[in-house]
Amino acid sequence: MEGPRAPAPSEYPEIVNFLDKSLRPDKKWSIVSEYPTALSQVNLNNIRIIKDNGEVLSHAVLKPLIVKTPVAVFKAGAIGSVVTNSSYRSQGLSKQIIDECLDEAQKQDCDFAILWTNLYDFYRKFGFELTGNEISIIVENELSLPAPSNLIFREGSNVDPAAIYKLYSRHTVCTVRTVEDIRNFLKIPNARIYTAWDSQGALAAYAIEGKGVDLDGYIHEWGGGVSEVVQLTQHIYKTQQRPITLIAPIHSVSLIEKFRSFGCMIHEGHLGMIKILKTEALFSKITRHARNDHGMADFVLEKVGDEFHIGTTQSSYKTSSEREVVSFLFGPSRPSDIHKFEQKTADKLNQIFPLRLWFWGWDSI
Ligand SMILES: CC(C)(COP(=O)(O)OP(=O)(O)OC[C@H]1O[C@@H](n2cnc3c(N)ncnc32)[C@H](O)[C@@H]1OP(=O)(O)O)[C@@H](O)C(=O)NCCC(=O)NCCS
Repeated sequence: MEGPRAPAPSEYPEIVNFLDKSLRPDKKWSIVSEYPTALSQVNLNNIRIIKDNGEVLSHAVLKPLIVKTPVAVFKAGAIGSVVTNSSYRSQGLSKQIIDECLDEAQKQDCDFAILWTNLYDFYRKFGFELTGNEISIIVENELSLPAPSNLIFREGSNVDPAAIYKLYSRHTVCTVRTVEDIRNFLKIPNARIYTAWDSQGALAAYAIEGKGVDLDGYIHEWGGGVSEVVQLTQHIYKTQQRPITLIAPIHSVSLIEKFRSFGCMIHEGHLGMIKILKTEALFSKITRHARNDHGMADFVLEKVGDEFHIGTTQSSYKTSSEREVVSFLFGPSRPSDIHKFEQKTADKLNQIFPLRLWFWGWDSI
């Protein structure tokens, strides 16, 4: 067996073939069209494979993402398309591949790795923990909007990606994308692209429902003003005549409250599974934010020997579990729910944690 290693450019077609056969056996499209940035040839150096007798046996891809947040700019290593040929499973191949992806992410200075999965126990073995917040807003009845909409709604991918980019860039938490990335995302199969236009012909809101085999019935990308997004969601519900779930970060407070006021069900879930990679770099970004933006001169977030200390010089939470640190930083619980801090410390920590972190649907791999 050879690998884990990055593939040569000439191996790209056989990797795509392996992934399509393993992960999209009944689909008319290639998995590459669902993940156009992660599985593109440009990202080949971040793919890891194991081969034997010229045959690809195991694969995973790393996609480094820069995430802008009010706390700091983070670098995340998203890992996806983890798969081993069914005849070669339980021989440790995926373990080797994932370890390699984590090494590579660390070499590229990713603060943490993230993945989206339901194999929680499998990934816990690598130190990943289920964390973060994801709010699901279920629209299953017509909303009683105060007035008829004066927006014009359209469906279809024939939208200027620069117009979407402009609205996307207004999000307080989002990954750095190019207009070209958005142009490629707009071509993802089995995705319905809805847009709302104002009377001047400017894009007022967008919402994307579905993404390849995933997220059918889910609006996983949206942008625009609260009122416009609500009206567009109502339009999607009326057009599709089925329950529609809009997923949103917990910090989209006005939008969530607006839907709640219409009687929509709101569910809280996790964002994904995260593993810290660059402890020192991550801690120093957060510490800078606590000290500079919250005036917490006594803020403590450090690793002392094998133990992590989080809190203030007066009152701190100590743990030797990296997974507990992930939960503390990214939630969903609040610091005061995790540890009995003295009140002043709890109040300050609750302002900072959980950190505002979010990945829009097009980034999930
Ligand atoms: C999940 C998958 C990638 C594992 O590949 P693999 O090469 O068999 O994995 P490994 O042999 O490296 O397993 C590593 C460890 O995880 C365990 N493991 C494997 N599959 C698991 C699962 N589904 N749930 C929990 N643990 C699992 C193994 O027992 C092993 O544990 P050990 O080291 O304590 O013995 C493989 O089953 C697969 O391709 N599944 C279909 C695609 C898929 O679901 N991918 C995951 C998408 S997020």
